Amino acid sequence: MTAPFKQHLIDPEICIRCYTCEMTCPIEAITHDDTNVVVDPDKCDDCMACIPVCPTGSIDEWRVVETAYTLEEQFSWEELPAQAELSGGADAGKDAPVDDPVAALLAEAHSGVGGKPRAPASATKPQVNTYTIGKPVTAVVQGNYRLTAEGADTDIRHIILSFEGKPFPVLEGQTIGILPPGLDGAGKAHLPRLYSVSSPRDGERAGYHNVSLTVKRDEGGICSNYLCDLNKGDSVQVTGPFGSTFLMPEDPAARLLMICTGTGSAPMRAFTMHRQRAAAGGSGDMTMFFGARTPESLPYFGPLKKVPKSVLKQHLVFSRIEGTAKEYVQDRMMAEQDAVADLLADPATHIYICGLRGMEEGVEQALTNIAESIGQPWIALREVMREEGRYHVETY
Ligand code: A2P
Repeated sequence: MTAPFKQHLIDPEICIRCYTCEMTCPIEAITHDDTNVVVDPDKCDDCMACIPVCPTGSIDEWRVVETAYTLEEQFSWEELPAQAELSGGADAGKDAPVDDPVAALLAEAHSGVGGKPRAPASATKPQVNTYTIGKPVTAVVQGNYRLTAEGADTDIRHIILSFEGKPFPVLEGQTIGILPPGLDGAGKAHLPRLYSVSSPRDGERAGYHNVSLTVKRDEGGICSNYLCDLNKGDSVQVTGPFGSTFLMPEDPAARLLMICTGTGSAPMRAFTMHRQRAAAGGSGDMTMFFGARTPESLPYFGPLKKVPKSVLKQHLVFSRIEGTAKEYVQDRMMAEQDAVADLLADPATHIYICGLRGMEEGVEQALTNIAESIGQPWIALREVMREEGRYHVETY
């Protein structure tokens, strides 16, 4: 009999078939058919490159086995098999004692992955995967409001969902899945699309535990058009919540540097509202660089104006104002170099970057320049911040 080993698997009930893991795998060990995305046990070398890129966490599944599940078996699954009891094993799980060989192998799979994003040390532990593709929860639309000016070239909506008393614990920075109705081109039910919550944990309205989303209508987008056209009282199928690292520190002394574009502002709104609602008096400040085309197309432009500067230092940056030079968030960060350097030098600072993937390069360059101006090589500083759960990126 073979000695037990850990096999890398993907949870088919949670996976949204975005194939990011497959594109990321350096050795083509991940593949898919019409049903499932699977890991080839003969190829996977547990390099973990796919773990941080998965938006739902469905990739981070492991079973200790004596004989690997074949590709054919994995393709046929509607749900993951439970951990089998092995001859030497007892109850397996992330918190099981390490003198249990099965638990020790599983713990190894979940530990110390270089470069893996981490939650802030003081973050509240989130719940994930409460509702799945096979067992979603029904939410009811409480409101659907246009955030961008009529006539602005982007239609961004603030959509409020009520879970009508059903439990849906969610933290700022997490995402939820929306299942659009209807069938895809192959005649199958649509898979969920993920959206960041833009409301704080106790609800869009404090104590009501309802959730808001910030949704941009994409031309031809199945889910974004479905959401943007919803009316009050409509029912929506929801999965999740997802995400266990893009979370805010609970430490009131933590300083937040938030960099976003467009709908990437959703988690930043949630962070800001949570801080505003939490007991005042913390020493940690919040600074935001927020890029949009124009003030008319910047979501939450009006409400942001009402947030006191003592709570949130705002740099609203516009790229398409007629007669004014194009400005991106990274340009304003350079213009505010001293303030950003002060944040980078402070071990209480947490960085959050959310929005267009394209901005990452420019923002990284600005951070490199600013960190170097204070004698800190950015790559090394970023690694420390990542290890300490103080550096978070979510781009799309
Ligand atoms: P622009 O589209 O004028 O080049 P969107 O409205 O598409 O959601 O984009 C939000 C903002 O992000 C816009 O002002 C857009 O500018 C800007 N943007 C586009 N590319 C980048 C980039 N590479 N770095 C930073 N900001 C960007």
